[in-house]
Amino acid sequence: MNKDLSDLIVYSGLSHPSLAKRIVSHLDLPLGRSQSIVFSNENIMVRLQDNCRQKDVFVIQTSSSPVNDHLVELLILLDAIKYASAARVTAVLPYFPYGRSDKKDEPRISIAARLVADLLQTAGADRVLTMNLHSPQIQGFFRIPVDQLLAAPIFFDYFNETLFMEESKEDFVLVMGDAGAAKAFGYYSDELNLPVAIVDKFRPDHSEKPIIRQIIGDVRGKSCLIVDDEITSGGTLIEAAERLSAEGAKRILAAAVHPVLSGDAVKKLVASPIERIIVGDTVPVREKIKGHENRFAVLDLSPLFAKAILSIHNGSSISALFPPSVRRRP
Ligand code: R5P
Repeated sequence: MNKDLSDLIVYSGLSHPSLAKRIVSHLDLPLGRSQSIVFSNENIMVRLQDNCRQKDVFVIQTSSSPVNDHLVELLILLDAIKYASAARVTAVLPYFPYGRSDKKDEPRISIAARLVADLLQTAGADRVLTMNLHSPQIQGFFRIPVDQLLAAPIFFDYFNETLFMEESKEDFVLVMGDAGAAKAFGYYSDELNLPVAIVDKFRPDHSEKPIIRQIIGDVRGKSCLIVDDEITSGGTLIEAAERLSAEGAKRILAAAVHPVLSGDAVKKLVASPIERIIVGDTVPVREKIKGHENRFAVLDLSPLFAKAILSIHNGSSISALFPPSVRRRP
């Protein structure tokens, strides 16, 4: 049975107001009112303008630029909500901050994603709702429940209803952006019934210029759909696309959940052989792609977040929101 929605309040930080507004509109709720003030010493003050005593509170804040300011604003919001006597607080992080810092693969470094997990819990989060984590172990950094949504159902709808309507599905091969993507998105090939190729990529340093050793699999004469979790500098996609082109790919397209698109990524991507880039909207992207909308398809992921918020509020299953092949992913 659905609980009364008058017990539910959804707040948003400053990172992605348009996503937050779309999420609450699916729930038929107004956005909780709060005010963030940044003083001249760069300290942030957050004031909630609604009574949230004993309410089920969600706070939406994604990792968009300025990433560190938005993270601190989220921590202060969580703290304010906790001390305003909310019954439960769920931090909703569509794109998880510092997700790529998920292991100690060099001496004397921090696993910053674990530190973020600690900070969220200390600030007052009772639960976390996020989407397509860079790696699954991030869930294990928490001692509170973490629900990880997968953007797959919305991407599959786009592939089936748009992409494979324009060109026969038989012509396509899924190209996993790297070994990590091959593991994370292996179920795409089962669900879409498509062959797979893998980009064998490594990063010699932190310059955001990856090196492609080889493409594993058959891409000649194929329409290649590169799949990855995020696009940051665009380096991975651009290097992969150039190699695919050199190996005789017929068309090159790309799909990624989190379009960070830092620096001049958009400019470089539109100059690359990638015909179309299909992305989620876990971070604000419309301004960045202005003037190049014909090269991008931006998928609205807000319905999935709204359904998940409702499921958490009602204590119903989140995995039931996904088709069985996605649920059974390794
Ligand atoms: C890397 O491990 C990720 O899966 C993406 O391939 C990476 O974040 C993309 O970054 P960039 O666009 O800077 O190559």
